[in-house]
Amino acid sequence: MRGNRGRFGLRRLALAATATMVAASVSGCQLVDDGENLVNGKELYVEKCGACHALKRAGTTGVSGPDLDQAFATARAEGFGQSTYEGVVYGQIQQPNLDTQLDPETGKELALMPPDLVTGDDARDVAAYVAMAAARGGEDAGQLADVGATKAEGTAQAKGGKLDIPADPDGSLAFVFASAKAPAGEVTFTSPNESSVPHNIAVEGNGVDELGEVVQNGGVSEIKAKLKPGTYAFYCSVQGHREGGMEGTLEVK
Ligand code: HEC
Repeated sequence: MRGNRGRFGLRRLALAATATMVAASVSGCQLVDDGENLVNGKELYVEKCGACHALKRAGTTGVSGPDLDQAFATARAEGFGQSTYEGVVYGQIQQPNLDTQLDPETGKELALMPPDLVTGDDARDVAAYVAMAAARGGEDAGQLADVGATKAEGTAQAKGGKLDIPADPDGSLAFVFASAKAPAGEVTFTSPNESSVPHNIAVEGNGVDELGEVVQNGGVSEIKAKLKPGTYAFYCSVQGHREGGMEGTLEVK
């Protein structure tokens, strides 16, 4: 039974602190130190973790796993040091909880967190970044400010019956475009996905309901649809991705 986690997770951390009144006198601004590369950690976090987790400083909006700012809030209040938080995240990366869990609202199976999404120094870097950023408030500065989840921007225009709406190449829960325009008629949608996070392109509205194949690592998701004038939604149908921000509006005239 792996349900009752024997390891030192965040919930246990909070419990241990309150039970023993550990007076950890660590100042809040102690930062990372043992050579972890936070920029690498943040980039990898966005690509490998952000599709399932929300974390404000990294700008990720995933909803399939716990919100990491919330998850850390209690433990953070107890004032443990950076290395403790790093250890917890590193342990979680190596040994997630693999019991099937059901969504209390829909009764559907929740996504599981796959083990070893990142390994070795990369896993240390991700753990260091998450431990530094979760529930800390504020914004990343310096070089760290230049990386993070991308937001969709601008409008894709159909050309010659083709509409290209790529997924964010760095693995953010976003298409490259926030909206799209196409003339009425048959439209071929393509959505290349360079990232390792699985995505597809899907369109719905006005009686149209099409799902493209789920692709990753350079695959291209494609659908064809006959569109009448009106407003449609394009989105990614992988569980949790639309809710996390992968959708936009398509205007057909
Ligand atoms: C496919 C979705 C998915 C991906 C990708 C994912 N996680 Fe998770 N994560 C979950 C789920 C579901 C849980 C809750 C079950 C559990 O605790 O293992 C979780 C739990 C956690 C927790 C514990 C939170 C708590 O409340 O105690 C941490 C920390 C965490 N993940 C960090 C990461 C990091 C770092 C990565 C990237 C290396 C990552 N996750 C990738 C789904 C995911």
